[in-house]
Amino acid sequence: MASSNSIDELLQLRFDDAPQDVPGDTDTSHWQSIANHQSCRLYEDKPVHPDLVQQLCALALGSPTKSDLQQRDIIIVSDPDKRATINALFPDSPWIEGAPVFLVFCGNNRRLRQIHERHGHPFENDHLDAFFNAAVDAGIALSAFALAADAAGLGTCPISTIRDHLATINELLDLPDWVFPVAGMTLGWPTRTPRINLRLPLAATVHTDTYNEVAQWDAIEAYDARRAELRPYGSQRDPDRFGTRDPYTWSEDKARQYAKPQRTDFGAYIRAKGFKLD
Ligand SMILES: Cc1cc2nc3c(=O)[nH]c(=O)nc-3n(C[C@H](O)[C@H](O)[C@H](O)COP(=O)(O)O)c2cc1C
Repeated sequence: MASSNSIDELLQLRFDDAPQDVPGDTDTSHWQSIANHQSCRLYEDKPVHPDLVQQLCALALGSPTKSDLQQRDIIIVSDPDKRATINALFPDSPWIEGAPVFLVFCGNNRRLRQIHERHGHPFENDHLDAFFNAAVDAGIALSAFALAADAAGLGTCPISTIRDHLATINELLDLPDWVFPVAGMTLGWPTRTPRINLRLPLAATVHTDTYNEVAQWDAIEAYDARRAELRPYGSQRDPDRFGTRDPYTWSEDKARQYAKPQRTDFGAYIRAKGFKLD
């Protein structure tokens, strides 16, 4: 999604403490769309050519992968009945139904185990790392897909809520043992440029030499205030339980979000896929 702002301006808006006028002769021209990344939840009623989708998949799967193991797959959901089933799961997220393309990014530790079997070598890494590596690999591909789409003027929105419906998604996509959904992804042509989202200041999230929380609370407080001013929430989460706040801040919203259990069945699902999580 295009922006006329400079990279320095975009990073400053996003973080409030991003470095400016960085010296050097680095060619930063293709950072523009990365700096301007925004999830997109409103799409034109216009198809995305299937070859373009394949090309984005190729760019996504060209991203780094742990030990060259390539433990992630992308499922393009093109069948209208399958799309309708998925759309119906999310009445509160109309951008899923409104997106011309829907994909699911999966972690895949199955292929590696099959390769072991074929070569007659034991798979001696049946522990948490097997799941973790595949999940991280899928996340990296998901991010690369989103950034490649951004750079082409397309818009995306990752959809982790597909994991609220594990049994349905598993059956619909016919996912075998050791293959699991990490997130869905909507894709399409944005109707308009959404607004860039703000992030915590780098003072809270970038450390040198050691993990250091000294600056964290001041940074969160400043972020809360800045975000409430520039990007106020449209509604408050669970007001019956928590009341209403003014200002309603990012940290209040996040603390409310995880005050409610979510996806408590995910561990059981992953174990049932064959993973040992010790
Ligand atoms: C792994 C992952 C899962 C996400 N799941 C959802 C989702 O289920 N529904 C949704 O609307 N947005 C989802 N998002 C989008 C985030 O809400 C979004 O990235 C975040 O609010 C920051 O906004 P930005 O991407 O515009 O900067 C997800 C993002 C990621 C990375």
